Amino acid sequence: MKKNTITDIQNMRDQGSPIAMITAYDYPSACLASEAEIPIILVGDTLGMVVLGYDSTIPVTIDDMIHHAKAVVRGSGASHVVVDMPFGSYQSGWQDALRNATKILQETGCDSVKIEGGSRSAETVQRLSEAGIPVMGHIGLTPQSVKQFGGFKVQGKTPKDAVHLISDAKELESAGAYAVVLELIPVALSQMITQRISIPTIGIGAGPFCSGQVQVMHDILGLFNKFQPKHAKQFHNVGGDILATLMEYRKQVEDRSFPSANESFYMDDHALELIRSQLPDLDNDLSDAVRIMTEQNYELIARVSEFENIMD
Ligand code: KIV
Repeated sequence: MKKNTITDIQNMRDQGSPIAMITAYDYPSACLASEAEIPIILVGDTLGMVVLGYDSTIPVTIDDMIHHAKAVVRGSGASHVVVDMPFGSYQSGWQDALRNATKILQETGCDSVKIEGGSRSAETVQRLSEAGIPVMGHIGLTPQSVKQFGGFKVQGKTPKDAVHLISDAKELESAGAYAVVLELIPVALSQMITQRISIPTIGIGAGPFCSGQVQVMHDILGLFNKFQPKHAKQFHNVGGDILATLMEYRKQVEDRSFPSANESFYMDDHALELIRSQLPDLDNDLSDAVRIMTEQNYELIARVSEFENIMD
């Protein structure tokens, strides 16, 4: 199966085809995303929040990312898989970033990595790109810096901040980024950025004028109801469906309507007779039964293979 490459993604942008990107953190969700023909799957470090239960992405480690990304790659089909470089894996300099990005690529088989930050990450983006590692940038609200921003707030609302973000996007493009995520910025600003650079912009909370959109899968499915960001549209309440299913399962176990004959397995009558005649009466003394069974172990093993032959 042919993978979507960064050239295919650039072609989509050049032809004006909106690019859908979705997060996935495990094999079944990656299989579904690829079956839905979503061109890009992001193994986002949001997994720290929606899968691991942290209150930010900061505690997520490289090993966490690799563990989840390996499963996603196995289910990704033709979708391009981009993996977030987590907090602390690239900020200390391009050498560390190159070592860690290499590890992520080699151990997961993913197609590219994503790095947060504009001008401050430009050298790293350049070094990685020169080393043959495709890099997606990420500016605006960069969640790994949430403590610096003082919360998940819209960025680029003042003229000074807006100009900064335009220049960040241009620097990332010059450094060789193949695309850039624009997170939580005003619609007019994302439109200006999209018009001023020639690589795809992928928006989240950045309005409709980007080259593509990315969403956290748990948000659009309604799987994670603790927090619903304004920019996320809940397309379905899967969490509600799962809850109802789990409650029904518990009820059926409790009233013994599950498992029914449909979910049960039966034994050949002849084999059953043979077992009954060989086993001690378990209704008598259980410890005695265990002793007898242990003494008869060898004979029982022989009998079991006899049953298996009968069953075959
Ligand atoms: O980690 C993530 O899921 C992301 C998206 C919010 C773009 O970076």
